[in-house]
Amino acid sequence: MPLVVVEHPLLQDVLARLRDRRTGSEEFRRLAHHATLLLVAAATSDLAVTPGEVETPLERAGVRLLATRIVAVPVLRAGLGMLEAFLDLVPGAQVGYFGLERDENTAVARCYYEKVPADLGSAVVFLLDPMLATGGSAAMAVEGLRSRGARDVRLVSVVAAPEGVSRLAAAEPDVRVFTAALDRALDVRKYILPGLGDFGDRLFGT
Ligand code: PRP
Ligand code: URA
Repeated sequence: MPLVVVEHPLLQDVLARLRDRRTGSEEFRRLAHHATLLLVAAATSDLAVTPGEVETPLERAGVRLLATRIVAVPVLRAGLGMLEAFLDLVPGAQVGYFGLERDENTAVARCYYEKVPADLGSAVVFLLDPMLATGGSAAMAVEGLRSRGARDVRLVSVVAAPEGVSRLAAAEPDVRVFTAALDRALDVRKYILPGLGDFGDRLFGT
């Protein structure tokens, strides 16, 4: 499975501040937004464009226009912190949702909500989930997207753990993962080390 660790200095600086335990929710939201802008720029860099023409104030200019149907699917709840940034960059995207929650004791994800556009075969689908820990949530979401015909699926995450990358690669070898960091490991509670803690709690101040 292709894993792209985006090393852009602006992204790494944002990540440093997301990791910092002193960063409060208001700042965390702003940083999550900025991180997503930079990650999505990387994750969309090979999208198909079609040639066109526009009239500038001076003359006609050859241009290239996005020629791809794009669907963004944030995984609730933490992925909601990435949606606005995605739509800033791709305002015409369709949006679907997966509500997934890990059991606090077992860290096994369960799905409590699902609303995704039909017929995803003609779209490039961007799954937005900031944390790839065990990979259970991502694997479940991708399976749901596949059942609706999705072929080109890309996961945009902020931090990934080796365990999650391996699990997703085994289950879904064609899914491309774009992340700001590949961290060291998971702890006994299946939190990413060094990670940044519970993304959803920090984002929403819970
Ligand atoms: C977090 C995170 C991912 C999931 C990753 O969500 O946003 O969806 O954990 O863990 P995994 O790779 O081990 O499945 P969580 O279940 O805590 O729900 P929340 O977003 O509602 O806080
Ligand atoms: N979910 C989070 O929010 N953080 C982790 O480290 C793992 C799962």
